[in-house]
Amino acid sequence: MTSNAALVDLAALGEDFTRDPYPVYAELRARGPVHRIRMPEGHEAWLIVGYEAGRAALADAALSKEWSNVSPGLGIGRLASGITMLSADAPLHTRLRKLVAREFTMRRVEQLAPRVQEITDQLLDAMLPAGRADLVDALSFPLPIAVICELLGVPFLDRDSFRGWSNTALASTDRAARKTAAGQLTQYLVGLLAQKRAQPGDDLMSALIHASQGEGDDRLSGEELMGMAWLLLVAGHETTVNLISNGVLALLSHPDQLAALRADFSLMDSAVEEMLRYEGPVETPTYRFTVKPYDIGGTTIPGGGQLVLVALADADRDPDRFPDPDRFDIRRDTRGHLAFGHGIHYCLGAPLARLEARTVIRTLLERCPDLALDTHPAAVTWRAGMLIRGPERLPVTW
Ligand code: HEM
Repeated sequence: MTSNAALVDLAALGEDFTRDPYPVYAELRARGPVHRIRMPEGHEAWLIVGYEAGRAALADAALSKEWSNVSPGLGIGRLASGITMLSADAPLHTRLRKLVAREFTMRRVEQLAPRVQEITDQLLDAMLPAGRADLVDALSFPLPIAVICELLGVPFLDRDSFRGWSNTALASTDRAARKTAAGQLTQYLVGLLAQKRAQPGDDLMSALIHASQGEGDDRLSGEELMGMAWLLLVAGHETTVNLISNGVLALLSHPDQLAALRADFSLMDSAVEEMLRYEGPVETPTYRFTVKPYDIGGTTIPGGGQLVLVALADADRDPDRFPDPDRFDIRRDTRGHLAFGHGIHYCLGAPLARLEARTVIRTLLERCPDLALDTHPAAVTWRAGMLIRGPERLPVTW
């Protein structure tokens, strides 16, 4: 095969692909590791499927994450504002990641554990009296944003406005509303950063500002700090929401696995890993761009800024890596799953995401011994697009 590979029109599959993309990916994988596709959004891209090919692509410097490398002909817009490590290659990436990793430590995550529990308890206190709820709205969505407010040190009195802007900026279907809210949020963050500079707290953002007061390479510029605040918001929010929702949905639609977990909560850690493998929140991570021709499985993707997507959702369902991959099994060996990516961009927030998911799912199960789906699993509607995998709503009763 050459770069003239036939175009696979995923947009034409419509709702079916959104509801259940796994069989489509598996069919493509059976034909080869790379395919030219039309995304549901309409753009053309190259899609890499399968575990080995996906893992290799994630760690290959020939696939850039810098937007300056995108082919101008593709006409695609970028996701977030500011300079971020997620959209940088080495050496800029190395520098940004090092500065942030130094502050975003295991210790900081562990210190957040009591707050994560407290926020979970408060959300459940509010949710439980009704006897039924949309779990996305009542629990999955509000928890991560509250945790991000902790990381950024957003004062309590500002949190409602902050939540409103970020929900609109990240999730509204109205383009103009998204833009306005993003502007409001940026303006708010400028003020917040100035305030933290004057009066540091014990939050991550204050620590980063403190770190940015060093000399030369050992500091973050104002624009980089702003980029980091945005990245924490974007990368830490939508993803964790869907780990919680997808995880609960998987448990409620596999009663044997749910019963096993309820009988032995020491399985919680491995259950969360299986949730990540079985239905990870990131179906394909943010775009990569070819900086030179990329050879894979007898196909050459041309250089010059072609768009490349890695189907994490398929890599983690590859039977060559995970036997009987479509079975949800909380005791299985999930080591090496790619739900948090691989290589230099491996998720910086993985320990925090794990902490949130373990805390909230365990507390939910403990406080709702008879938790059940309030709809048929097949009736669940899924978020459109190939970036994020998660239900729009998750009706539950208890
Ligand atoms: C279940 C929840 C999460 C999932 C599934 C997830 C997944 C991922 C993936 C797949 C990547 C790599 C993207 C790529 O290679 O293009 C990534 C990067 C990243 N994630 Fe997460 N993430 C989650 C939660 C979080 C949280 C809670 C935070 C922080 C608050 C966070 C911060 C980041 C950052 C900063 C990066 C960029 C790392 C870099 O470029 O070096 N993530 N995440």
